[in-house]
Amino acid sequence: MTDLMSKIISLSKRRGFIFQSSEIYGGFGSCYDFGPLGVEMKNNIKKAWWEEMTRSKENIVGLDAAILMSPKIWEASGHLTAGFADELVECKKCHHRFRKDFLEESECPDCAGSLTEPRKFNLMMKTFVGPLEDEASCAYLRAETCQGIYVNFLNVLNSSRLKIPFGIAQIGKAFRNEITPGNFIYRTREFEQMELQWFCHPKEADDFFQYWKKERMKWYLDLGVKKENLRFRDVEKEELAHYAKAATDIEYKFPFGWKEIEGIHNRGEWDLSNHSKHSGEDLRYFDEKKKEKYFPHIIETSVGADRSFLAFLVDAYSEVKGGRTKTTEAAKEEEIVLKLGKKIAPVKLAVLPLVRNKPELVKKAEEIYKSLKSDFACYYDEVGSIGRRYRRQDEIGTIFCLTVDFDSLEKDDLTVRDRDTMKQERIKINDLAEVLKEKLGK
Ligand code: GAP
Repeated sequence: MTDLMSKIISLSKRRGFIFQSSEIYGGFGSCYDFGPLGVEMKNNIKKAWWEEMTRSKENIVGLDAAILMSPKIWEASGHLTAGFADELVECKKCHHRFRKDFLEESECPDCAGSLTEPRKFNLMMKTFVGPLEDEASCAYLRAETCQGIYVNFLNVLNSSRLKIPFGIAQIGKAFRNEITPGNFIYRTREFEQMELQWFCHPKEADDFFQYWKKERMKWYLDLGVKKENLRFRDVEKEELAHYAKAATDIEYKFPFGWKEIEGIHNRGEWDLSNHSKHSGEDLRYFDEKKKEKYFPHIIETSVGADRSFLAFLVDAYSEVKGGRTKTTEAAKEEEIVLKLGKKIAPVKLAVLPLVRNKPELVKKAEEIYKSLKSDFACYYDEVGSIGRRYRRQDEIGTIFCLTVDFDSLEKDDLTVRDRDTMKQERIKINDLAEVLKEKLGK
């Protein structure tokens, strides 16, 4: 674990972003819970994705399919066959297990022992539906959300009267029995995916693949992720998932190296033709104008909500050695500032009375807090010196601190402090909501 990752994990726990699942029982293998700030931030990521992929685009509708589906779907999709399996090797000495494709050497990276022959390990998580635990009642937790979209292709087409090209967007949980989860929430066994399936004419698939690559990269940049920490990586033919004709990953430069955060796939007619074959339903599209019947090709964009969460968090994390709030007793310490984008930050505003032993100040600050909290993710804090309170807010990425001071009582205004520049500006309380809406781009 790098030093930076240890600091981010510790901040996540200390400030209520992310907790280890089942912690009081010693934790549960690579599962995590999102705390009060984490759930706000994750919801902001999902909202930003949903707005971008549905509202700001033409011809894209949403779906929320069930996690449990007919096991026949996973036969048709290729997930139950060798297609969705990793190669597992075990060290004969320490018995640690590894994914073969993650190993650079042919010996155990932990103790240099020799390794067993690789064996296929299917990643689908099994469960049983109904009172009997037999083959017939076996079902799977979905390993990718998109299969729910493919099997609803006709339902969506017929109910919404869309014409090709069009897209279906979905956000939901997915599960994989990963052999080597790790790097905090980077690779877990339960995670959330945000997926778009774009159905188009086969002849247009290559152009749309390029179009969606650009659009998806732009999304991260618009939300404030640093350009130098993002790159495309074209996936080599031999690495392609069983369903993909072509794939490009968007990678982020994590402290543990460049890693995939999103996959953009040209799935061709793989999914619709296989589901047609296995279900007996004709999933071809009929173009009435051209009198042409064909399986639409699918361009998919697939990003993990949790994995992108980690990228946003890492990207925003910064430390100011020696402190930047010179007035505080803690100025000699390291100050953490989470420079999260305005849309992603879990808390937008903090209302702070300058001191808490002046009832008029506290009363005024409380009134302001109450008037803002239904429109803005807002926090009230009166404990500790003002410098300490600024630092507490900087550490969780709060965009603006609103300080109510003695002048506020006479002039009916307050100071608005910007997290990144630390500049303070006096704003009339009557104008506050409007000014903040504009500043926050609401
Ligand atoms: N439907 C296509 C699909 O699932 P994928 O490349 O296997 O493609 C897409 O996964 C994205 O889902 C990844 O880029 C990553 O963001 C997220 N993801 C996949 N496995 C994950 C895991 N074990 N933990 C966290 N996120 C994961």
